[in-house]
Amino acid sequence: MLVIEDMLCRLPIFLIGFMGSGKSFLGQYLAEKYHLPFIDLDIYIAKQEQKTIAQLFALYGEDGFRQKENYHLQTLITKSFEGIIACGGGTPCFYDNITLMNKNGTTIFLNTSIMTIYERLQHDTIRPLLTNYTASARLPFLTQKLEERLPYYNQAQYILDDEQINLILQNNAS
Ligand code: S3P
Repeated sequence: MLVIEDMLCRLPIFLIGFMGSGKSFLGQYLAEKYHLPFIDLDIYIAKQEQKTIAQLFALYGEDGFRQKENYHLQTLITKSFEGIIACGGGTPCFYDNITLMNKNGTTIFLNTSIMTIYERLQHDTIRPLLTNYTASARLPFLTQKLEERLPYYNQAQYILDDEQINLILQNNAS
């Protein structure tokens, strides 16, 4: 059985998972319910850098963005942020960030199904990694990218599937 309080006892909580898996939504929900501060890592990075994520990709390429992502993640850890952090989809897959997060808090992987992810992302115009793919080309791209990233996501301390995520959001998990 899923006991939410057990998952939340070592802060910070890092919500990880693919784009469109619901990290920000669940993070905000849990933060409100358990009276914890919440940070969306992308929004935090954009604020610190005074640029949108798309601008950071355009200016520095994905490699430059990953460096900044690692830097800001480390900063939050060094500052001992005690709350919930919704990471970007790629955060655990670069610079051994997954080990950093596992050492310094609790990692929860939202293992949302690929079809749910695809439905949410097929018309997305914000995320730089998707801009080169038309809606119909997105399913194979997303499927392959998710496959590549699963070895990182699966290192999380907790893994929640669609059903468990829905139970939490419907207030039915203890
Ligand atoms: C990315 C996911 C995005 C954002 C950036 C790269 C990825 O975050 O960090 O566009 O590599 O999967 P979300 O997962 O919040 O969309």
